[in-house]
Amino acid sequence: WVLMVTAQTPTNIAVIKYWGKRDETLILPINDSISVTLDPDHLCTTTTVAVSPSFDQDRMWLNGKEISLLGGRFQSCLRELRSRASDFEDEKRGIKIKKADWEKLNLHIASYNNFPTAAGLASSAAGLACFVFALAKLMNLKEDHSQLSAIARQGSGSACRSLYGGFVKWIMGKEENGSDSIAVQLADEKHWDDLVIVIAVVSARQKETSSTSGMQDSCKTSMLIQHRAKEVVPKRVIQMEEAIEKRDFPSFARLACADSNQFHAVCLDTSPPIFYMNDTSHKIISCVEKWNRSEESPQVAYTFDAGPNAVMIARNRKTAALLLQRLLFHFPPHSDTDLNSYVIGDKSI
Ligand code: DP6
Repeated sequence: WVLMVTAQTPTNIAVIKYWGKRDETLILPINDSISVTLDPDHLCTTTTVAVSPSFDQDRMWLNGKEISLLGGRFQSCLRELRSRASDFEDEKRGIKIKKADWEKLNLHIASYNNFPTAAGLASSAAGLACFVFALAKLMNLKEDHSQLSAIARQGSGSACRSLYGGFVKWIMGKEENGSDSIAVQLADEKHWDDLVIVIAVVSARQKETSSTSGMQDSCKTSMLIQHRAKEVVPKRVIQMEEAIEKRDFPSFARLACADSNQFHAVCLDTSPPIFYMNDTSHKIISCVEKWNRSEESPQVAYTFDAGPNAVMIARNRKTAALLLQRLLFHFPPHSDTDLNSYVIGDKSI
């Protein structure tokens, strides 16, 4: 027999960034972060997990290519999941799996991203979240979404926020064992559904500095990162929660842009400096800033993760159409910039 489960998880984009760990093994952050979960039709991971007594080892394929499960991020999540698995019974098919059997049974896992891996489009977030969610279903875990978020967190920090739709906060927590470092939903997908996300895929190439090593270097060498984590982010998180609750777009946009810019300032303050944005990214920022300043209040927010791709959040469909028009005029795909496509997605799951 073979038992199988398929799950789909969207990626999330942080509007208040996570950058820096206080515990590298458990993946505990130095500040809270807030994100928006995208619509699953656009940027998501689909993962199928299977278990069978005929499998002779754990195996995993990412976008059709086999990858090693040993010692990596997936392994730490897998260990946690196996230790919490429950009895499973399918009387019709005569399948009975005892809790302890999950330690011995081998798994096959196949995962697909419908967007470029490791190009700063938060693919690890959707990937790890989907891995945990699909296996939790297969192994009959009793944990709720918050507890599952703590397992996903141990694979990749930002993954814990992809367990929920809408607006999500990852609470940094205080406990040394990480038990209170979990994701919570601030508002569901229906709360603010006017927002439209437009992503300019400036480069689909693999980034040079991974988030994991980048934030490690920042923690070791940047002085700005401490100021950011202790003084700036705690206040911004409160203001951002309020902006989301009131659907106050001008405040939302100002906070998101400022936070993205400070995160990249921390990267520049790192030794050696990390450059995630390129010329095209900078030009997109100038274009959006100029537009926002020519209006009574901001129309578009921008944010950049660990890569050059621009994630823009328009206040409504009409603004998104105008934004796209401007972008296509100033940054046409396949011109002398290395910009190659646009992805448009609704905000919510
Ligand atoms: C810039 O979650 O990829 O996207 O925990 O080491 O796996 P690890 O890092 P990761 O870092 C994401 C950083 C970010 C900001 C964010 O998503 O909050």
